[in-house]
Amino acid sequence: MTPASARVSVRPPADQVSTQQFAEDVAFYLTQTPRQLPSRYLYDALGSALFEAITRLPWYRVTRAETGLLKTHARAILSACAPLTDTVELGAGSGEKLARVLQARDAGSAALRVHLVDVSRSALSAAAGLLVGLPATQVITHEATYEAGLAEFSRTQSETGHTLLLFLGSNMGNFDPPKANELLCQIRAALQPGDLFLLGADLIKPERELMLAYDDPLGVTAAFNRNLLVRINRELGADFDLDSFQHRALWNATESRMESYLVSTRTQRVRIAESRLELTLHDGETIWTESSYKYSLEGLFGSLQAAGFARRQAWIDEDAQFALTLVQR
Ligand code: AVI
Repeated sequence: MTPASARVSVRPPADQVSTQQFAEDVAFYLTQTPRQLPSRYLYDALGSALFEAITRLPWYRVTRAETGLLKTHARAILSACAPLTDTVELGAGSGEKLARVLQARDAGSAALRVHLVDVSRSALSAAAGLLVGLPATQVITHEATYEAGLAEFSRTQSETGHTLLLFLGSNMGNFDPPKANELLCQIRAALQPGDLFLLGADLIKPERELMLAYDDPLGVTAAFNRNLLVRINRELGADFDLDSFQHRALWNATESRMESYLVSTRTQRVRIAESRLELTLHDGETIWTESSYKYSLEGLFGSLQAAGFARRQAWIDEDAQFALTLVQR
């Protein structure tokens, strides 16, 4: 079969949400107690490039550990899903991880439909370009949020064979538990009985390692965090003084999450024109920008079982403490 690519577009968002939505979110979250900003806004073009740099840092092991596990266990993952007719990746990014798995398919494998769900148009076209070169593969891109992409996929899913849905990179860790559970239920609802779900998640590890991963000695993670203020200044006409904010990471053992903050190093007044907001930040006051939840293996399977999945297998990088879990609907 000749490789073919098709596109199913689910509107809206393109690479950026609308300025109005961004301005409203900033006004809402910055005036909450504690002050906060949604972590999804960390990923403008520069933020995405800085995150890519983070994944190459020696202290941030998530991406390398997961890529290694996928490479080593690709055949086992594929054979658990036979006969495979569809794969779906939520937050497909560059598509490289999925390519690693699919490259292990046998020569002469049956036709496969690959659904890529991502809000970034540029990421989707890069991933589609990479995956469409695989044998007997049709790529369908869903430029959409996870929820909208899942709904679109379930309307177009093949009647026969199995689906493998992948949610990798410990991206689930950036959701609070209620939101993560809701997403797991939406994933289950989009699948048919017998379909498989592969979840990549970072495990709890010593605080010293977590602190280095989220406050690295090169300052890349600090730049990734502070770039959020650069973005707000540029897109929302704000006047954050970058020199007066520091990156802070801390491990919250009770909640099992790393927390990232921007800390005001003096009392200052900030104006955000598009959000129609002026605020005073005191010396030492924080803005909470990200949570990265860390899991135990049993906790992960517990959440997956609570969402209606049956445990199949786990592959763990013991050194980096990272898990790939495979469950079945
Ligand atoms: C994308 N996400 C899973 C990363 C994480 O580990 O929470 C984002 C990140 N933030 C700081 N470093 C990496």
